[in-house]
Amino acid sequence: MLTLTLRDFEQARERIAQHIKRTPLLTSRQLSEATGFDVRLKAELFQRVGSYKIRGPLNKFALMPEEQKRRGVVCSSAGNHAQGVALAAKIHGIRAVVCMAENATPAKIAATKAYGAEVVLHGTIWDEANEKAKELVRNEGLTYVHPFDDEQLIAGQGTLGLEIVQDWPDVEAVVVPIGGGGLISGVSMAVKSFNPRIKVIGVESSDGPAMQASVRAGKLETIDCRTIIDGLRVRRVGEINFSVVQRFVDEIVALPDAEIFDAMLWVMERCKLVVEGAAAAPVAALLRGLVDLPKGSRVAAVLSGGNLNVRQLAGQKWN
Ligand SMILES: Cc1ncc(COP(=O)(O)O)c(C=O)c1O
Repeated sequence: MLTLTLRDFEQARERIAQHIKRTPLLTSRQLSEATGFDVRLKAELFQRVGSYKIRGPLNKFALMPEEQKRRGVVCSSAGNHAQGVALAAKIHGIRAVVCMAENATPAKIAATKAYGAEVVLHGTIWDEANEKAKELVRNEGLTYVHPFDDEQLIAGQGTLGLEIVQDWPDVEAVVVPIGGGGLISGVSMAVKSFNPRIKVIGVESSDGPAMQASVRAGKLETIDCRTIIDGLRVRRVGEINFSVVQRFVDEIVALPDAEIFDAMLWVMERCKLVVEGAAAAPVAALLRGLVDLPKGSRVAAVLSGGNLNVRQLAGQKWN
């Protein structure tokens, strides 16, 4: 059972600090007035690669034995994980292969290549691209970098939580989006190891609440996932993630994609910040009154990334 201490997160942060930005914790009068809480926004959309996803791979690669580094790493993702792995591998001088489905967005393929990774296109859905990645592990001895179910990755992602409590030691609650559960696993252990009374609230899309379903069932469940928000789109969360969430997360709330997209526009309009769908989920939960805390509570919301296809804003399908 994975339990990381404050020292673990401090050490992870020392390993990665020189390669990342210390993203700001912004005050938001607009959001505070709208919710009745004292809300601050961890603006991780300003992180290198545009999301928190570089933190975990940087920590993992810093700990990787030389011989494994020489063989290289592989992951399968068409989103933020791909870019996080690609840049972290480049920083550590490691060969990185990223498997994506053949219909992946050209802009994302280009961005991943620009960070120095080799892109292998295979199949039409993530599962098929992932099979290709596993094949490269077997045939070429590459190390697989899981997007959420990995201890060293979780320790790296959790450095975001450490920064929140360092910058705001009086924080009373932290609201975090959940996809596979990597981010909230790290953040929940980091903030609770600093102060176990800090509440951690996870937010999912009710169009694909894989973690909420598993917590309710008391075991890992595979769900029929219909959300179109890519950071939140997971049919089954990770085993380590599930166990950490069961022990360290106080509540999980869920709301439909449409309400999360409304919050995305709200943040852009009122806070002048470009956030992607997954990052708007905590704000959506706050605006819709799903976070039940006393008036005036000090609440940090994690704006986890800002990588969205802005051209979609001109149409109906936003992500
Ligand atoms: C911007 C953003 N926020 C949140 C998440 C969810 O993180 P996790 O899968 O670690 O729960 C993701 C995952 O891809 C993401 O890209």
